[in-house]
Amino acid sequence: MKGTSKYIEEIRSKFPLLNKKVYGKPLVYFDNAATTQKPQKVIDRINAYYNSENANIHRGVHHLSQVATQDYEDARTRVKNYIGANKVNEIIFTKGTTDGINLVATSFGELMNKGDEVLISAMEHHSNIVPWQLLAERKGIVLRVIPIHQDGTLDMDAFHGMLNEKTKLVAITHISNTLGTINPIKNIIKKAHGVGAKVLIDGAQSIQHGEVNVAHLNCDFFVFSGHKIFGPTGIGVLYGKESILDCMPPYQGGGDMIQRVSFDQTTYNELPFKFEAGTPNIVGGIALGTALEFMESIDTKQAFAHENELLSYAEQKLLTVEGLKIYGTSKHKTSLVSFNVGTIHPFDIGTLLDKQGIAVRTGHHCTQPLMDFFCIPGTIRASFSLYNTKAEIDLFIHALKKAISVLS
Ligand code: ALA
Repeated sequence: MKGTSKYIEEIRSKFPLLNKKVYGKPLVYFDNAATTQKPQKVIDRINAYYNSENANIHRGVHHLSQVATQDYEDARTRVKNYIGANKVNEIIFTKGTTDGINLVATSFGELMNKGDEVLISAMEHHSNIVPWQLLAERKGIVLRVIPIHQDGTLDMDAFHGMLNEKTKLVAITHISNTLGTINPIKNIIKKAHGVGAKVLIDGAQSIQHGEVNVAHLNCDFFVFSGHKIFGPTGIGVLYGKESILDCMPPYQGGGDMIQRVSFDQTTYNELPFKFEAGTPNIVGGIALGTALEFMESIDTKQAFAHENELLSYAEQKLLTVEGLKIYGTSKHKTSLVSFNVGTIHPFDIGTLLDKQGIAVRTGHHCTQPLMDFFCIPGTIRASFSLYNTKAEIDLFIHALKKAISVLS
């Protein structure tokens, strides 16, 4: 394929769904910020689990239960190593990014008092806004929003001015799912720690596009979803520093999170189980481990460089389209591009692209306040992953021009 190295072709061949046709046209899958496709290895692992291992974990002396428990805990260790955590008990399996943020808002939120401040930014996904609004209603904390500039970068001067002794938490996205902006989180973490605040990083978009090392970042919490990094849906991870997780009350009650239950008094399990009530998504955790094994098996340096090339190539081509405006023009951006064309509604373009086999996301991308900031109803978002190609971008541009000619 045009401009695609043999290596990227080889990676691409591991993803069976990418060979699919949609309406008789080759599928061009540019909705990777919403979810990624799965390598055969991950699909096979899910089948293998249900074919030969299925059992509940942490509960049985029987063979299958022991195998499933071992595989689930091995996956936890793989996550720990992948994100550079210091200890395996700092890795909590969740349903996904949203679940992880809700856990922190509910449990860490219990440690906050009326008038304490939580800072988020104007580019957050709804999942990093609403849990804090709920906390504000419940506990009377004050939610403050760090503004952004027109190019989609954070107003760092404003951020510095907002930090004070009442700031208890800064909850911020690493990479904007709508604009692609990569936030200067290392600097943010350092500054927030300077006033004694903790920092939660929403890594939903960053986990698939670059190296993450929570120990180097020194963040207090880091959340992500398995399905954004070639794993299954319904599984995610909350990383938290042990010393902080230890002080936090349980999130949900049930099996596995307890040490001893009586009607008079219940004591709780140690980390990470204290935060994992009920039968978890066992196969999800195991297959997330396989997805990370896949990431470890490839040359990520080459893959991430390829993603950056795709972004430059796409932006360069898109800017030749008359009336097209890109939202999110930071120099530090990841491989997605959000845009509108004149006054055409993004949904109309998305629909006509779909009929030509091109999968993009249209709408507000769960960032309605950001749409309000730009005074638009939504955008068309093309988001690339390591298996996409320049030839696909050419098909996309061709299809886009055709859609515009129909709609103009
Ligand atoms: N958060 C996902 C997206 O940006 C669903 O599409």
